[in-house]
Amino acid sequence: MTLPTANGGFTLRNRAVVAPMCQYSVDAEDGVPTDWHLSHLGALAAGGFGLVIAEATAVVPEGRISPRDTGLWNDEQRQAWSRIVDLVHANGSAAGLQLAHAGAKAATWPMLPGFEDGTVPAAEGGWPTVSSSPSDIFGYDAARELPREEIADLVTAWADAARRADEAGFDVIQIHAAHGYLLHQFLSPLVNQRTDEYGGSYENRTRLVKEIVAAVAEVWPEDKVLGIRFSGTDWADDGWTLRETVQLSQELRELGVTAFDLSSAGIGPYTGPRTGPGYQTPLAAAVKEGLQETDSFVTAVGGITTGTQAEHILATGQADGVAIARAALVNPHWAAVAASELGVPREENPRAKQLWRGRW
Ligand SMILES: Cc1cc2nc3c(=O)[nH]c(=O)nc-3n(C[C@H](O)[C@H](O)[C@H](O)COP(=O)(O)O)c2cc1C
Repeated sequence: MTLPTANGGFTLRNRAVVAPMCQYSVDAEDGVPTDWHLSHLGALAAGGFGLVIAEATAVVPEGRISPRDTGLWNDEQRQAWSRIVDLVHANGSAAGLQLAHAGAKAATWPMLPGFEDGTVPAAEGGWPTVSSSPSDIFGYDAARELPREEIADLVTAWADAARRADEAGFDVIQIHAAHGYLLHQFLSPLVNQRTDEYGGSYENRTRLVKEIVAAVAEVWPEDKVLGIRFSGTDWADDGWTLRETVQLSQELRELGVTAFDLSSAGIGPYTGPRTGPGYQTPLAAAVKEGLQETDSFVTAVGGITTGTQAEHILATGQADGVAIARAALVNPHWAAVAASELGVPREENPRAKQLWRGRW
């Protein structure tokens, strides 16, 4: 499978992608990925995925979802990522990283057993948060409105993190514009109530995402893959819509984004359809249709659990790739099992050779 890039293509061994998943495992709270990340991401690569995308990684310290998130705002973090990238490559997968800023959803407790919900108090390592507009829609401590003067610095921080991701050896970066985090807080009128040029009209609400994409594209090599993850819809008539997602995808394709991943929701209580098998795939299909005149790689995500189901999505042209999250936590060798389920001969099975004698 060849993923388009700004100046050609980048080959993946198959179309099974590990979706980014926060591990909340930076015990030192310094944003430096740990041996847990090495073993976790290395195992997923050994298990046969074409592309392994590492978790939401903050471009600035205050952009972390929790104090235990990974970051890429300094060179110590870059070095630690580089060791992980080397292992992912050695195990046969392309290496991707999701770059993120949580905005009003930052400084929350890790989503792990034993932790409470909500904002981490400053005395326990939390920090004040920013958003497009002050909003209590998330049930966390109120965020301050990001002033215009700070937006330029934020755009630079994204570009700096992208440059470090390149230096660390990543092949793919995915800009996190989904799940109610900062960029989604700008896109969605459910949160964005600004009256300056970053709020109001579609043009204004999408301005920050476009500025970040343009700045990242300046530093990101043209033979690597620049991707984005959207919440394709807020599932609310007065929210961010699928029509807007399709339009923005087309506009970002012009700016050099070639990979699009379609999730949904993240602002307020979930109001979408039942979260069953493949429940978000129609969003990927709509964006794929909108991008049909271009060379793009659109992935479906959400409730994809078997090789047969994944193959159906691909064979019916609804998406170019499938992103797998929870099923990959259950079985890091999901891609190898899916290949076997689909009749890929043993000698062509994508898993690491050390796993060759495993049977199912
Ligand atoms: C443990 C865990 C951590 C997650 N962390 C992230 C993340 O860092 N960034 C992101 O965009 N989505 C994150 N997600 C959402 C997944 O990437 C995925 O979109 C969602 O789980 C639906 O896919 P699935 O049905 O295959 O699990 C996370 C999901 C899980 C289960």
